[in-house]
Amino acid sequence: MTLPTIKFLKQPTSEAWIEQAIAHLDTILLDHSHCERKAAGVALNLMFRYPAREKLVRMLTAIAREELEHFEQVNQRLEQRSIALGPLAAPPYGAGLSAQIRKQEPERLLDSLLVSALIEARSHERLGLLGDRCPDAELAKFYRSLMAKASPPLWGILDFSHNLFRSPFGDRTAGGIIIGRKSVAGNCLS
Ligand SMILES: [Fe+2]
Repeated sequence: MTLPTIKFLKQPTSEAWIEQAIAHLDTILLDHSHCERKAAGVALNLMFRYPAREKLVRMLTAIAREELEHFEQVNQRLEQRSIALGPLAAPPYGAGLSAQIRKQEPERLLDSLLVSALIEARSHERLGLLGDRCPDAELAKFYRSLMAKASPPLWGILDFSHNLFRSPFGDRTAGGIIIGRKSVAGNCLS
């Protein structure tokens, strides 16, 4: 199977986003912590929703463990910088994508996987941008190390979706699940 490249994101992250991110590294780090926690939570929720799907549960177990590790690593950096682990308004992006998940099965599973893959793909791209452009050398190195880890879950999700639905995108076209322009507007890193 030929996996789609990261280019299945319709548009690259804007220069304005990266400039804003670099100007607000503390907020980005806090947002990142929330994103890692949410990513682990999504994996756990799917495990609860589909407990009998062995391959899926195995993949989700690995993802949940890894995302919790990232959560811990980001939180260590928050602590080093004396940034409180406080609340942050959720960007509309995640809710906008979740609203596109169909209610009936198996489409619900397919769409849930694709939304996770999209978020992971955007995260991969933005970690790379931060790794390249972040003026704080230690943080830049951290982002590069996380970027290297963001690919396996993405390909794992799409590979699983391919096996189950005979295409990574099932009955969604690649363009169809890259839902409108919402997928390019997010802040999420994980
Ligand atoms: Fe992560």
